[in-house]
Amino acid sequence: MKINTSTGVIKGKTDAIAVCLFDDEVKTLKIPSLDSKTLQELTKLIAASKFAGKKDEQVLQYSQQAAAPLLILHGLGSRKEFKWQQLRLAAGAVLRVARDKNAKTLALFSADKLVEELSAEDVTKALVHGLVLGNWRFDQYRKTPMKEIKELTQVTIYYSSAARQRAAESKLEAALVSAESQNLAREYGTHPANIVNTEYLAAEAKKLSRRGIKVTVLDKNQMKRLGMNLLLAVSKGSAMPPKLIVMDYHPRNAKKTYAFVGKGLVFDSGGLNIKVASMEEMKSDMCGGAAVLAAMNGIAQLKPKYRVIGVIAAVENAVGPDSYRPSDIYTAMNGKTVEIMNTDAEGRLVLADALAYTVKTFKPDGIVDLATLTGAAVVSLGQMCDAVFTNNDNWRREVMDAAERAGERVWHLPIFEEHSKDMEGETAELRNFPMHRWGGACTAAAFLKEFVDDTPWVHIDIAPTAFPGKVSSIQPKATAAGSGVRTLLELVTR
Ligand code: BES
Ligand code: MN
Ligand code: ZN
Repeated sequence: MKINTSTGVIKGKTDAIAVCLFDDEVKTLKIPSLDSKTLQELTKLIAASKFAGKKDEQVLQYSQQAAAPLLILHGLGSRKEFKWQQLRLAAGAVLRVARDKNAKTLALFSADKLVEELSAEDVTKALVHGLVLGNWRFDQYRKTPMKEIKELTQVTIYYSSAARQRAAESKLEAALVSAESQNLAREYGTHPANIVNTEYLAAEAKKLSRRGIKVTVLDKNQMKRLGMNLLLAVSKGSAMPPKLIVMDYHPRNAKKTYAFVGKGLVFDSGGLNIKVASMEEMKSDMCGGAAVLAAMNGIAQLKPKYRVIGVIAAVENAVGPDSYRPSDIYTAMNGKTVEIMNTDAEGRLVLADALAYTVKTFKPDGIVDLATLTGAAVVSLGQMCDAVFTNNDNWRREVMDAAERAGERVWHLPIFEEHSKDMEGETAELRNFPMHRWGGACTAAAFLKEFVDDTPWVHIDIAPTAFPGKVSSIQPKATAAGSGVRTLLELVTR
C-alpha cells in the first residue's frame, strides 16, 4: 500500500472517497478539493442516513454521480473532546471498509475546520499511523491469506492548501517508517515461540548489518565469561540457546549515545514456578525485545544523528532437568548476588545482566528498557496504558514527551525506598521476588534499578498494552500491539 499527498481538486480515478468530519461540520459541508457533484451526493447521503458525525459513526453509499463509486463518511465526534487516537482509529476504519468493499484506491479528505485547527504535520502523522496500522493483518498461517484477495494499493490524503501539503510531506516518511516498524514488532510478537525463537531474533537482527548497523550476538560461552549468571540461570531449563543481541547504530560525529534494552523472553512458562493461567499468551513475552529490534529497523531508515545501541536479551524460560530453582543463588554481571525466590520473576533477571552489560560497555547518556515485566502493571493501570519508572526525572520527561508525540500512553509510577527494601535478600544481597505481592510493578522496577548505576534510566513496563485483549480498527484480534516502537523512534529522531 502506497500513501501520498495531494491538494486542489481531486485528480484521476479513485475507487473510494472517504471524508472524516467533526459533528459540527456535518450541517454545512465544505471540502475544497471535492467537486460540486460529489459534494451534492455526500449531502444527500448525510440527509438520508441522518449522519451526525458522532464518534466512530460511519455510513457508506455507492454513487454513479460522484467522483468515485464508493463514498464513506466517518464521524470524529465533538471537537472539544478530540484526541489524536480518534483520528488514527478513523483512518484505520475507513481504510478497512474501503478494502473490504474491494476498493484498490482511496482518497481521504477531512473538512475545512479540521485542517484549519490542527497542524498538517500532526494530522499526517495520525492519519498515516492509522492507515498503516489498520492495514496490517496476521494471516500467513491461513490457507488463503487475505492479502491475496483484498488489498488497497494506493491511499491519497488531500490537504486544503499547497502549504499544508508541503508541511505534510515533511512528516510523511517518518510517520510511515514508525508505523511500519510497529507492524514489524507486531509480527515478531504474534508468531509463536516455535517460529520466533532466540535464533530467529538473532538472525533478524543480523539482517540490519547490511543497512549500516553493527550487529554482535553473544552466545552462552561469551556470556559466561562476562559473568551474566542471572540471564544464564533463566535459560538453564530450555534447549534453546540464549542470545544477547547487540545492535550498534553509530553515525559520524554523534554527540550522544542512547541505549534501548528489551526483554526478549521468547516464551515464559514460569519455569519450576510454572504458570497456571494464560500461559499461551507468553509467546508475547519478547515484545520489549521486539520493540527494540523493530525500532533499530526504523533507525536504519531514518538515520538519526545520535548513536543508538539496541540490546535484546533473548531467552526462554522453560522447564527442564537443569532448570534453575527457587532458593538458588547467582552472582550478576555487576557482582551483586541474587536469591531466586520465584522462577516466574525471570524478566528482571535477564534484564539485570543486559542492563549491567549495556552500562559497562557503552556508557550511554540515557537508557530505556522495555519489558512485559509484571502482571501487577496491568492491575495498576488497565490494558490501555504502560508504566514508566526512572532514576532520573529529566530523562523521564524526555521519554514521556516522546511518548506523547508518538501517541503512546504511559504513566509515571514511583520507586520508593521501601520498594527497594522489599528486594533485599535474606541470604544474598537481593531477592528476585519480594515477601508479598503488593506494588509488584514497583518492586520489579526497584530490582532493575540496582543494575544501572547512575546512568539516566527509564524502564517501561509494557505488560499492560503489549498483547491487548481489545480489538479496534487498528488492532486485530489476538495479535501483539507493537508497543513502544513509536516512542523509541520519536525519542531519537527529534
Ligand atoms: N511475563 C510475565 C509478566 C506478564 C504477565 C506479562 C501478564 C504480560 C501479561 C512475568 O515474567 C511474570 O511472570 N511476572 C510475574 C511476577 C511475579 C512472579 C513476581 C507476575 O506478574 O505475576
Ligand atoms: Mn514470568
Ligand atoms: Zn516474563
